[in-house]
Amino acid sequence: MTNAVIETILSRRSTKYYDATATLSDEQIRELVRIGTTAPTSFHMQNWRFIAVRSAEAKARLSPIAWHQPAVTEAAVTFIVCGQLADSSVIPQRLAPVVEAGIMPERLIPDWEIPARDLYADYPQRQRDEAVRTGAIGATTMIYVARSWGLGSTPMIGFDADAVHKEFGLAENEIPVLLLSIGAERPGNWAQKPRRPISEILDFV
Ligand SMILES: Cc1cc2nc3c(=O)[nH]c(=O)nc-3n(C[C@H](O)[C@H](O)[C@H](O)COP(=O)(O)O)c2cc1C
Repeated sequence: MTNAVIETILSRRSTKYYDATATLSDEQIRELVRIGTTAPTSFHMQNWRFIAVRSAEAKARLSPIAWHQPAVTEAAVTFIVCGQLADSSVIPQRLAPVVEAGIMPERLIPDWEIPARDLYADYPQRQRDEAVRTGAIGATTMIYVARSWGLGSTPMIGFDADAVHKEFGLAENEIPVLLLSIGAERPGNWAQKPRRPISEILDFV
């Protein structure tokens, strides 16, 4: 069975060659993040932030601390995808619009906040794991938004996290989860690579 969404998923590949002359407008970049952040997050914390590195000046600051990967300078934009350490105290504020929209009754807010506090408050590793999960799921969704618009994308772990943290003024509670370049491609990119067989990676129980 196929459809447009599946075709988008199956035709995505990690882009190596970008059209360095192609740009994205601030409005297109906003849309990428707006649609991408409809991705789910634990307790609806939305513990992410995105820094759109798209000016020549900002690209020049990122490039040397990202292994001089060509995507940083050639893609229209490279997002520094930040995950924020899970913190249950943000939950009432994050759920307020959900109550406002008539989706959730206000009285249920403590039913989310209290278990989240129990889950995260005394567990720094779990706070950090959640930041990484959140950033990864948000970035993944943006990858497919980009593909659906005919744009290439490259998730990248090839960067110096401490240097990026410092250079781009990330907060104490923020982790640069990955870099995500997005932009128009130029010819020559490889097709999506074959994956491991399902028999190796799927267990039915
Ligand atoms: C977490 C993560 C980190 C990656 N880091 C880099 C990177 O630093 N540089 C790069 O060129 N590609 C990077 N990639 C892309 C992978 O090499 C690519 O997804 C993989 O080879 C499969 O290729 P395909 O997606 O085109 O099929 C990364 C991908 C992921 C998911």
